[in-house]
This record gives sequence, C-alpha cells and structure tokens, in this order.
Amino acid sequence: MKFIATAKIGLESTVAFQLHKLGILDTETLDARVGFSGGYEEMAKALLWLRTAERLLMTVGTFRADTFDSLFEQTKALPWNRYLSPKTRIHVNGKSAKSTLFSVSDCQSIVKKAIVESLKASYRVNTVPETEEEVIVEVGILRDEVTLALDCCGAGLSRRGYRTYNVPAPLSETLGAGLILLSRFFPDTPLIDPMCGSGTIPIEAAMIANNIAPSLGRSFAAEQWRFVDPRILASAREEAADLRKNDRLCIMGSDVDPHCIDLCKKHAKKAGVMLDWKVRPVKELSTEWKNGVLICNPPYGERLSDAKSVKALYREMHSVFERIPDWQINVITSNREFESIYGKPADRRRKLSNGGMVCTLYQYNPIRKNRNETL
Ligand SMILES: C[S@@+](CC[C@H](N)C(=O)[O-])C[C@H]1O[C@@H](n2cnc3c(N)ncnc32)[C@H](O)[C@@H]1O
Repeated sequence: MKFIATAKIGLESTVAFQLHKLGILDTETLDARVGFSGGYEEMAKALLWLRTAERLLMTVGTFRADTFDSLFEQTKALPWNRYLSPKTRIHVNGKSAKSTLFSVSDCQSIVKKAIVESLKASYRVNTVPETEEEVIVEVGILRDEVTLALDCCGAGLSRRGYRTYNVPAPLSETLGAGLILLSRFFPDTPLIDPMCGSGTIPIEAAMIANNIAPSLGRSFAAEQWRFVDPRILASAREEAADLRKNDRLCIMGSDVDPHCIDLCKKHAKKAGVMLDWKVRPVKELSTEWKNGVLICNPPYGERLSDAKSVKALYREMHSVFERIPDWQINVITSNREFESIYGKPADRRRKLSNGGMVCTLYQYNPIRKNRNETL
C-alpha cells in the first residue's frame, strides 16, 4: 500500500529521516509530503512515531482528470468496497492547486457521489444509509493529478493531547519538534528555550530525548477501520510504551510571563516529562552548561508585541546570546529584518511556515557533530 505523510513546508526532510529510523526506507520526498509504501504495521508505527508530519493518508487511487465526468468515472472505478461497508458514513475533504478542476466543493461532492454509486453497485443495494463508523476521504488535485486517500489520523498529528491551555501564538507541536530535529539536538544535549510560552519546544525535546512516541496517548481514525486488524495498532502501542525512557534531562524553559510558566508545568505533567521551568526575562539568561542548543520563538511583531519593542528584544537577544558563545542558537521568526536588527548574519537559514506565515529559522553555530543521526 502507498501512504502519504503530509508536512509543513521545510519539514519534509525531518519526516523522511524519522521514517528511515522506523525502518521504512522506500520514501519519496515531495513538496509538503513524503510518500512511502508498506503495510498496516508501517502505518501504525508512522502514526505513533512521526513527530513532524501533519497527517497520514492511505492512497486508494491516483489518476489524471480535468473534467468532472472523468473525476466521477475514475473515482467510481476504484475498489471502495475493500474499505467501506454499505453503511459507512463518508466524509470527503478536498484541496486543489494549479489544476483545471479548481472548485474544491464541487470536486468533494462529485467524489462523494461516485463513491456512493460504486458502493451501491458492488454491494447491489439501492441506498447507502451512512449509519455506521465514519471514514474521511481526502481528494487532492495537483496539476490535474488526482489522489484519493483515506485519512488515517482523524485529528491532525500535532494534537498530541498534552497542550490543553493556550497562550497567544503558540507553535504547533509538529513545528516545535521540527525545530529540534533541525537543530542537531541529541538526548544528552542541554537545551534551553528562553521564551517558551506554553512549553512546546522543551516538552517536544523531552519527548525526543526520552524516546516517547508523540502520539502514544491519543487515538486515530484508522482504529475504527473495519478492514484493519485492531491488534496491529494495539501491539505497536505496547511496543512504543516499552521503548519509553525516563532519563533525567538537561532541558529548561523560561519565560517572562509567570502565567506561561504555570501552563508549562501543567503541560509537562500531562506529557509525562520532568523539566526545569523558570519565570525569567531573557536578559537574565544564564546557564551552568558550557554548550548546548538554544531554540526560541520570540514575538514577531505581527500578532504579539509591537514592532518597536520587538526590535529592542532582538537586539537584547544578541547581546545576551553572546554570553554563551559555544551554544548553537536557533531563532524562528517571520520578521524579514531579523538579521539586521539582531546584528549578525545567520550561518544557516531554513524556510518554514508557522500558522500560514512564512518564517525563517536562523541558525548560528550549527553543531557539526556526526552521530549518524543528523539531517
Ligand atoms: C511566540 S510566544 C512563544 C510561544 C511558544 N513557542 C509556544 O509554543 O507556546 C513568545 C513568548 O515570548 C515571551 N517573551 C516576550 N518577551 C520576553 C522577554 N523579554 N523575556 C522572556 N520571554 C519573553 C512571551 O511571554 C511569549 O510567551
């Protein structure tokens, strides 16, 4: 079977890296997605362990279509009865880019009608009552190439379940994990987020360091599929639970806002990780460790904070980070003037997207260690 792990732009390489670590080697990296082949065991592992994928889809069929008739007929010809009973509730999501069929709502309703007709014909019934479990079908059209797939996840994979209280402008959990994987963090590396908000970056780092499967505590749409043996996901879950470590970590989050630190403690408890948290303005940053990885997501001057105070903060960050010259510094922001305000060109820049905003991860002192685990 073919699967597609969707990802934010800039994080595709981290998804392929994690699939390889899971022993899934047959991967194809494209814009915002990574394809791979495998069975339901691979699907279960990917669902539980992918830290930076947004969704996991299982392909039912692909074909070219530039008319509604062709979309209908080719959708109807696919073997839907392998996956859906005559009573399955069918929900169709869709997107289209650079294609002749650009009306997503029309494509969604044509695909739904075609699936219903296909099920009526294969089960020899006149109606499809849709009274049983729901299956989500994704129709994606890119340059007239249609992909029809089943959504294995339900809620997106960023919903780990530990972040129940929100601060303004939190990072998604998948992007938080992505920043860590792009930073060359290793389980024994000290890590600091000096503007940690709701705690996403330190908590994701702790889950990586202690080999905690990010989605261990949640359920997936695929668990309701009648054609998948439930023991497959159950045993992948058990295996993931056994792999969890409980090491003491050198990971710290701090923020100037005491309310944020209260939330961080609650989120870390829910995620089952023990970390150090501190109410502290960035100007008071200090550490006993000579080197490590600092990752931060400061206000951008768009949603939080005004442009003037953001400029002052970025300048202050530079003078503070100069005090820890052996640390790798990673700053994500959408502010295009970041480097000139900060006062130093980055050694490496990576384009990412955060909540629909184009952002850059500015990296200083990228660590050039080779532990066979680097991206
Ligand atoms: C964009 S939010 C970080 C969100 C966080 N990454 C998350 O996932 O929840 C920026 C954070 O910077 C903090 N902050 C702003 N100025 C600060 C300063 N001078 N020192 C420390 N923290 C600061 C804010 O309180 C806010 O929580």
